[in-house]
Amino acid sequence: MVKVKTCVFISGRGSNLKNLILCSREKNFPIKINLVIYNNKNCEGVNFAKKYMIPFKFVNTKFKKSENEILKELKKYNISFICLAGYMKIIPSKIINKYKNKIINIHPSLLPKYKGLDTFARVLKNKEKKTGCTVHYVNNKLDDGGIIVKKSFFIKSNDSVISLKYKTQNLEYRAYPEAIIKVFSNI
Ligand code: GAR
Repeated sequence: MVKVKTCVFISGRGSNLKNLILCSREKNFPIKINLVIYNNKNCEGVNFAKKYMIPFKFVNTKFKKSENEILKELKKYNISFICLAGYMKIIPSKIINKYKNKIINIHPSLLPKYKGLDTFARVLKNKEKKTGCTVHYVNNKLDDGGIIVKKSFFIKSNDSVISLKYKTQNLEYRAYPEAIIKVFSNI
């Protein structure tokens, strides 16, 4: 099986990156992670790239020229698919247009509800019955784009921001690989 050359973009802890690295080592998983791009110097997640010997590249997204730097790096590694995993920056339209329907993201809410930041606090404040995570295609709008997989759970009366985050992230570790399999089984 020829695996799809993939780049994962991260900004933080990288637990989804770690999970995707482990999945991608399975024989029948459709992608191989050939590159990790990160935009935060203090990003712990880059240590997973180091540990699993995956090339990694820091890009300072404060500067406009970072768009071209990213595109150059993607080209260098022949990347044809991108997974955003806790990447806290809007993807410039130049990159989105070049990778049309080839960029997916995971978000910690049941989209289209609770786009943006602080999802858990807002979910609690609004006394929602359920929450969860969504994997979706990336387009030019924030946390928008076609939904691939959505997973949910019921919120308990004693849930807090911390417990919701914990439960949501555990769901994410199932949702993201499932979404990737789905994307490539439809092609
Ligand atoms: C994940 O929960 C992901 O859903 C969220 O950041 C976390 C990253 O965790 N992404 C967003 O909020 C994007 N809008 P990780 O670094 O441990 O994978």
